[in-house]
Amino acid sequence: MYPILHEWGGFLIRWTHVVAAIAWIGASFYFMHLDASLRAIPAIPVGKGGEAWEVHGGGFYQVRKYLVAPDRMPEHLIWHKWQSYSTWLSGFFLLCWVYYGQADLYLIDPAVRVISPLTGALIGIGALALGWLIYDGLNRSPLANRPPLLATAVFLTVVALAFGFQQVFSGRAAMLHTGAVIATWMTGNVFFVIMPNQRKAIAELVAGRVPNPAWGKQAKNRSSHNNYLTLPVLFFMLSGHYPLAWSSPYSWMIVGLVVIAGGVVRHFFNVRNAGGGDRWWTWGVATACVAIAAAISIASSPVARERIGWTASAEAAPVQPVSLASAAHPPVDESVMNVIGTRCAMCHAAEPQWPDMASPPKGVLLDTPEHVARFASAIRMQAVLTHAMPPNNITDMQPEERAELARWLAAR
Ligand code: HEC
Repeated sequence: MYPILHEWGGFLIRWTHVVAAIAWIGASFYFMHLDASLRAIPAIPVGKGGEAWEVHGGGFYQVRKYLVAPDRMPEHLIWHKWQSYSTWLSGFFLLCWVYYGQADLYLIDPAVRVISPLTGALIGIGALALGWLIYDGLNRSPLANRPPLLATAVFLTVVALAFGFQQVFSGRAAMLHTGAVIATWMTGNVFFVIMPNQRKAIAELVAGRVPNPAWGKQAKNRSSHNNYLTLPVLFFMLSGHYPLAWSSPYSWMIVGLVVIAGGVVRHFFNVRNAGGGDRWWTWGVATACVAIAAAISIASSPVARERIGWTASAEAAPVQPVSLASAAHPPVDESVMNVIGTRCAMCHAAEPQWPDMASPPKGVLLDTPEHVARFASAIRMQAVLTHAMPPNNITDMQPEERAELARWLAAR
């Protein structure tokens, strides 16, 4: 019963989280675009808002923005906050479910640091809180008036967090937690800054006073931060499925490069939507960042280096003669099946022997030579190019065994 609950529970929480995040990011992109598309109209003084006409789903929309607020309170006011709160809540729940609930598979890598699941969870949750205090503190410091310096400080904070997480967690959990801290900043911006400021403005309006324009400006700043952080966060959230991104000792550099790449791509669209032209250089910068990130991932994997002919490393050197010799062998010889049988098949079987596992993870079956042959390229990615499998090397796979898989794969 428990494994089935675990599997379905995880799936349903993830489903909720993705749906909530789509609603939040959709609304966030929509309002950034709307802000950029506003045109001045006589009814609203310049600099105090504007109007946009839009067409969607068979109707025309006339949307007006009032800065700081309209002269009197509208009767019906729609708030946009639950998209953000529900994304954070479901995400936090998912973090607990996957990383703290199955800490031995996902969170703790004894090759990095031996910690108890409870310590790991406390470090993770503590980092979410501490990360917010640092980010919010930077925003309330004198740096707030100097956007380039603030951006640099926030950027360095992200890279430092990524580096710190890599000292305690598995590579996968480190990158995910970096994303979770940034996502917490984004919801924190809504919960602790944007909403309270809006409430204060409304209270002033109701009392017949003019709200302080600084509140609106501060809220708008935080909302722009959220916009620029969206693409990097999505990368970190998805990274778990792509071990080349997180399995390098230098993945914290990849984090920095992705923050730049995601940020400049958002910038392209923000400027373009505002009618400011096409800043094509942003795509050049983003491409360069992603290329360097990929290069870092390859440089940190000797086998990947050898595969693209980058270096003939010492580890990869014996591949050549053996691959020639084994060309005559059947697709999967016994020594490979032995390695897979002892290190992988307890999980990757129709009925996994691993406790609390209801079905072969991700449908990957490694129980017969045919199945192993079918998943050859996935095995290369997960257990040879990277050490993503076995998770946190939980079955104690030896370097010679990975070399054995590498020889077999090179001969194919
Ligand atoms: C302790 C159980 C366990 C062992 C042992 C194990 N795996 Fe996995 N494997 C998993 C889990 C859990 C996942 C799903 C990971 C996820 O959620 O992204 C997985 C996923 C995979 C995937 C699919 C990855 C993807 O995202 O497409 C491959 C391929 C794979 N494992 C290969 C191997 C190989 C090869 C070995 C042996 C060297 C191995 N596994 C050993 C638990 C295990």
